[in-house]
Amino acid sequence: MATKWGICSAGKISHDFTVALKTLPAGEHQVVAVAARQLEHAEEFAKKHNISRAYGSYEELARDPDIDVVYIGVINPYHLSTCQLFMNAKKNVLCEKPLAMNSKEVKEILTSAKRNEVFFMEAVWTRFFPASVEIKRLLAQGEVGEVKMVRSEFGAPLKDVPRSVQKELGGGAMLDIGVYCLQFICMVYNGEKPECIQATGVLHETGVDETVVVTLKFSRNRLAVFTCSSGIQLPNDAIIVGTKGSITIPTHMWCPTSLVVNGKETQYPVPEPHLPLNFLNSTGMRYEAEEVRQCLLKGLKESAVVSHADSLLLAEVEDEIRRQVGVVYSQDCQ
Ligand SMILES: NC(=O)c1ccc[n+]([C@@H]2O[C@H](COP(=O)([O-])OP(=O)(O)OC[C@H]3O[C@@H](n4cnc5c(N)ncnc54)[C@H](OP(=O)(O)O)[C@@H]3O)[C@@H](O)[C@H]2O)c1
Repeated sequence: MATKWGICSAGKISHDFTVALKTLPAGEHQVVAVAARQLEHAEEFAKKHNISRAYGSYEELARDPDIDVVYIGVINPYHLSTCQLFMNAKKNVLCEKPLAMNSKEVKEILTSAKRNEVFFMEAVWTRFFPASVEIKRLLAQGEVGEVKMVRSEFGAPLKDVPRSVQKELGGGAMLDIGVYCLQFICMVYNGEKPECIQATGVLHETGVDETVVVTLKFSRNRLAVFTCSSGIQLPNDAIIVGTKGSITIPTHMWCPTSLVVNGKETQYPVPEPHLPLNFLNSTGMRYEAEEVRQCLLKGLKESAVVSHADSLLLAEVEDEIRRQVGVVYSQDCQ
């Protein structure tokens, strides 16, 4: 039986996610309905993607009895309220990253998931790419020895994307794109909490972080460093250095399609989309969608690859980085 998806919001990432679902077998993944704040936006989205039901409110989607799981693609400040809406309606949820504005909100979301006994996962899609699965396999079999250093970066000029720089829209380089660098480091170090976090950065005129550099120290003198920026274009690579070798993602570390392992490069292409995409390699969201299906089929309430504890760790480290850099959201004061 197909997993029946509901799509919450008719924005850019919802479009890409729906295109990504089309790269999976129709007998396994089906989009049943889409909801947007305005009915005409939902109807337009439904027409473009051949979806039979369009709703003009998220509440109507929450009441639809045919939905197995809701994909939430709203902007960051609304992740908490929309997650709660759907989980209180006993819907399973896959919610876009960053999971929420701060760790307090993340805790509320995770508590709601447990209380409602639904499946819940933050959409950290990078971790499900075949290249990421291969990295985990190589690390587990000791291909590069003991990892001593991880470096990652994600920087692109996003000054014209309001939600990336406006504080009230949940902007800020750390939450928007730095989360990819951080989740990569946390994946390599198996979800361990860093012993030390040191961050410095520069702020955009709107008061959110524009460029941030972070160093992290883990147990046994293992280190990591990452840079994220909504102001400048960076090479966007990542490297894992161990006592016996290295693994490099040459570029686009958040959606990796090639790996260099001890000097040897292998490609991991993602499928071509049937419609133009808003973001790079978005058909790679198919892998996280398939993880959700597999978890639902097994009756799991969370994924072992992006667990609730993983989401909380990301949020707690993000909070500390923002504290050091000096970015405060209204949600931090509530
Ligand atoms: N996985 C990835 O690669 C990736 C890439 C980009 C973004 N994202 C994440 O996806 C989320 C959405 O990003 P996006 O680029 O798709 O954003 P977007 O197109 O600007 O907005 C997404 C939706 O959020 C709602 N929204 C926008 N502005 C709002 C406002 N002022 N008040 C209330 N609701 C508002 C709208 O929902 P309605 O349609 O219902 O009106 C809109 O369609 C973010 O959390 C972002 O971090 C992930």
